[in-house]
Formats: sequence, structure tokens, C-alpha cells
Amino acid sequence: KQIQVAIDGPSGTGKSSVSKLVAKQHGWGYLDTGAMYRALTWWCLDQDVDLDDGPAVTDASKSFDLQMGTDPSNPTVAVGDRRIDAEIREPELTRQVAKVATNLEVRANMRERQRALMQQLAEQTGGVVAEGRDITTVVAPDADVRILMTASEEARLARRSKELSSTVEATRSQIVDRDKADSTVSQFMTAADGVTLVDTSELTFEESLAAVLQIVQG
Ligand code: CDP
Repeated sequence: KQIQVAIDGPSGTGKSSVSKLVAKQHGWGYLDTGAMYRALTWWCLDQDVDLDDGPAVTDASKSFDLQMGTDPSNPTVAVGDRRIDAEIREPELTRQVAKVATNLEVRANMRERQRALMQQLAEQTGGVVAEGRDITTVVAPDADVRILMTASEEARLARRSKELSSTVEATRSQIVDRDKADSTVSQFMTAADGVTLVDTSELTFEESLAAVLQIVQG
């Protein structure tokens, strides 16, 4: 049987690192859906598409040649043959992703791409771990395993600032602004029906991983 695992949550919960390791341990494909919204943002900026022009961004989301590398040991992102792994993590781009990600037609197009990729990976490797903000609720509500990773704002801030080698105060405005921008598309602290909540506020990374692996193993 092919296993689909959906993991949602805001930044700083350990979601990405845990998702990659769960996929790796099982030999499954890994899909970073946040990277897909980041890639679309990069493409629009590269093509001089105005991010506030909804219909233009929607058109771009239909036609751009997104290539997701789904090996959890080495996930990659490219548009055509142009690799953009570093570019999509730039703070300036990160600030702009929500403009693209709150466009409902863009989300509908991305959702179709995400479902197709999840299906393809499950067929190829026997399973898939897809992470994002709306995988458990919208993209794959029928996934075999659905998890929402949360953590207190303070815990998320502490982790993110360490990741970005920046101060807690500098990170605070970024995290808080992005949570606000994302709140229309994602749940931060409350799990939908049938979704298992993992609160990592008080957990080490190893403990978070163990908790998620246990849920996946059923
Ligand atoms: O930095 P972090 O890991 O938290 O973010 P990400 O997973 O790379 O996602 C970047 C942005 O993409 C989020 O802030 C959301 O605006 C958007 N996103 C979304 O709308 N839906 C998803 N399924 C995944 C990401």
C-alpha cells in the first residue's frame, strides 16, 4: 500500500527537518510545498510580473516550468533548467511570498500540481511526505497520516533566529507579519478533525522526530 503523509504548520516548528527525515527513513519522496510558492514568487520577480497583479500572477502559476527535486536527502527547486535553491530563501523574497500565496486561483493551480506530484511520488517510491500550510486540510485531506506541528511563538522565534543567525527581535517582526499574512490560508494552533497535533514547544528536535515517526508508524 502507498502511504501519503501530510504535515502542516508554521515556521519554526521543526516541520521541514522532521518531514525530510521521515521521508528518508522510509525511502519515500518528499514534497516541500512552501518551496513551490517561493519558486512562483521568484519566477514572477524574474519575469517582471507585478506581484500585486492577481490575474498576471495566476497566469504565471499556470505556465511556469517548475521542477521539484523530491529526494529528501537533497531536495532541489528549479524553473526550467535554472536552479533557484538559494534564491527562494532570501529574506526579501520570503517577505513577498504571501502576496502570491493568498491568491485563490494561484492556490487552485498549485494544489493541482501538488496532488499530481504526491500521487506520482507515492507510486514511484511507495510513499510521500508533503509539508506545507494546507496539506492536511485542502491538498490531501484523505492522506493516510495527517499531522499539524505547532509551537509557541517564543519557541518558534528562538529556533528561527538561530536558523537565520539573526536576533530574536529582528526575527520577531518577520515571523509575526508572515503569520498574519498566512492566517487566511492556514491553521496555526488548532488541528482540523482527524489531524494529530504535535506541539513541539517543549521538545528537542529528536523528540519531535520520534513523536512524528510514531504517529506515521501507527
Ligand atoms: O519559512 P517556512 O518554512 O515557514 O515557509 P515555507 O514552508 O517555505 O512557506 C513559505 C510561504 O509559502 C508561507 O509563508 C506561505 O505564505 C506559503 N505557503 C502556503 O501558502 N501554502 C503551503 N502549502 C505552503 C506554503
